[in-house]
Amino acid sequence: MTQPQVWLTDHLVPADQARVSVLDRGFSVGDGVFETLKVTDGAAFALTRHLNRLVQSAHGMGLQIPAVELVRDGVEQLLAANAQVFPELSRLRIQLTAGSGLAGSERSGGEPTLVITQTAATVWPETSAVITVPWTRNEHSPIAGFKTTSYADNVVALARANAVGATEALFANTQGDLCEGTGSNVFVVVGDRLITPPLSSGCLPGITRALVLEWIGAEETAVPMSVLREADEVFITSSTRDISPVHSIDGQLVTHAPGPVTSAAQKVFAMRMSQTLDP
Ligand SMILES: Cc1ncc(COP(=O)(O)O)c(C=O)c1O
Repeated sequence: MTQPQVWLTDHLVPADQARVSVLDRGFSVGDGVFETLKVTDGAAFALTRHLNRLVQSAHGMGLQIPAVELVRDGVEQLLAANAQVFPELSRLRIQLTAGSGLAGSERSGGEPTLVITQTAATVWPETSAVITVPWTRNEHSPIAGFKTTSYADNVVALARANAVGATEALFANTQGDLCEGTGSNVFVVVGDRLITPPLSSGCLPGITRALVLEWIGAEETAVPMSVLREADEVFITSSTRDISPVHSIDGQLVTHAPGPVTSAAQKVFAMRMSQTLDP
């Protein structure tokens, strides 16, 4: 395979030569933000929404915000450079950190680090087995709703899911309400209602979640974790999965996966996605 390129601050570098300082605060304390996008045939989906969320997350973290057009230019140059390496499906990660500094909570004002990488796509199963975990998302956290590089909670929760053959773990928030997965938002069908937790639950404002709300429509309503046992259908959403029907929760089979509401949502989503690259 030809060597992929990486975008480092303001230029392309072969991936195996790209270097970031060991003093980078993204590395030492997770002082950074990121975005993950789906790339199909060399084109990134919903780039403008992802760039906007990157800026919101950076703002929320108090990071120095780069000019969005420079980040967009980096994405475009990288996709063009890697066109032969990743001809079909791949994933793009845009990562912005506080740059070099002391390895403590206090920032010392270094120049931010921007890294954009393109890697092979994750191959997800057609339907998902999920578990619930006893750990909570903190909707009162200063970083709630921002896509920061501090993913340790998610790493531990997903490892627990993977250990029992599941591919996602769902969190409640501190109120005991359904929140989100380690890398996905969640929707439940109860009777004739399609429900997703509101942003006040502490979940990430997922791009896919927002598109489902706009293209298909759903209620943003707080629901207790127990809704997962009563739901007729459950699906999770993310940029690399789109809409993934959930077929089991904590080993209990969900009756319909995909059920009629999920199937209809998947069809509308695929159709709208084929019509617009940057909705
Ligand atoms: C914690 C979390 N929630 C939700 C999502 C889904 O967001 P999006 O649809 O923007 O990919 C992600 C994506 O990685 C995530 O990490």
